[in-house]
Amino acid sequence: MQNLMEKLREATTYIRKQIGDVSLDAGLVLGSGLGDMAQEIKNPISIDYKNIPNFPVSTVPGHAGRLVIGELEGKNVLCMQGRFHFYEGWGMDQVVFPIQVMKLLDVKNLILTNAAGCINKNWKPGDLMIISDHLKLTTSENPMRGHNEDELGLRFFDMSRAYDPELRALAAKVARSQGLDIKEGVYMFFAGPSFETPAEIRAARILGADAAGMSTVPEVIAAAHCGLRTLGISCMTNMAAGILDQPLGHDEVLETGLKVKKSFSALIKGILREL
Ligand code: HPA
Repeated sequence: MQNLMEKLREATTYIRKQIGDVSLDAGLVLGSGLGDMAQEIKNPISIDYKNIPNFPVSTVPGHAGRLVIGELEGKNVLCMQGRFHFYEGWGMDQVVFPIQVMKLLDVKNLILTNAAGCINKNWKPGDLMIISDHLKLTTSENPMRGHNEDELGLRFFDMSRAYDPELRALAAKVARSQGLDIKEGVYMFFAGPSFETPAEIRAARILGADAAGMSTVPEVIAAAHCGLRTLGISCMTNMAAGILDQPLGHDEVLETGLKVKKSFSALIKGILREL
């Protein structure tokens, strides 16, 4: 059996064969509803996940499974159109495999986006939030559990700057310049696929969470492990469970995602320009 570094190198070599030795300014992981942004990438090279050695393949309807590499706002980007979620049944190690590939491809900045339930009652659906920190209490699984690849990072590693302070400040500055009332707060990871219960959301609020979601956190842990500069931005697609007297559904998530698509992608592009 191949070890992790061999698997990562095999995937990286395959991708490098397609894209050449271009230096990559940013890796983009686009959440629900934002995948379209990949279509704006100039001179794109698309690589289906299924063709990349050792890559998992996405199963969620509406999540395309490919890398798109090219130019966006004058920067060379590698965009994951479709990500891997723990709730799909992937191991945490598989969820973060593409992030580790980005590290081996020497990606300079990682920008992760997601759809999230809004826990903070002062905010509303459609608001965007720069992630300042996270909470992950719902599963004992950690993507870095098991044998540590010393070549990637330390066994015990710092999480206090996992959401890069400079990138957060840059995102806030760009948002202000676009007249966007951006929020900043704590994202709490729930494994899903069930939405949270009202009691879980009340507990999350007491613990200091502003948003609830089913992605991003494993990827951020892996990025912190291997020293990738990371920014996370959430789109509040719905008020979290129990805040409003109505059931939650994926339709609402997609609908709000669609409504803010323009301002969300303008923000990401503005950030790319300033990198
Ligand atoms: N909870 C968890 N994940 C989500 C939600 C939510 O309310 N909305 C969008 N993703």
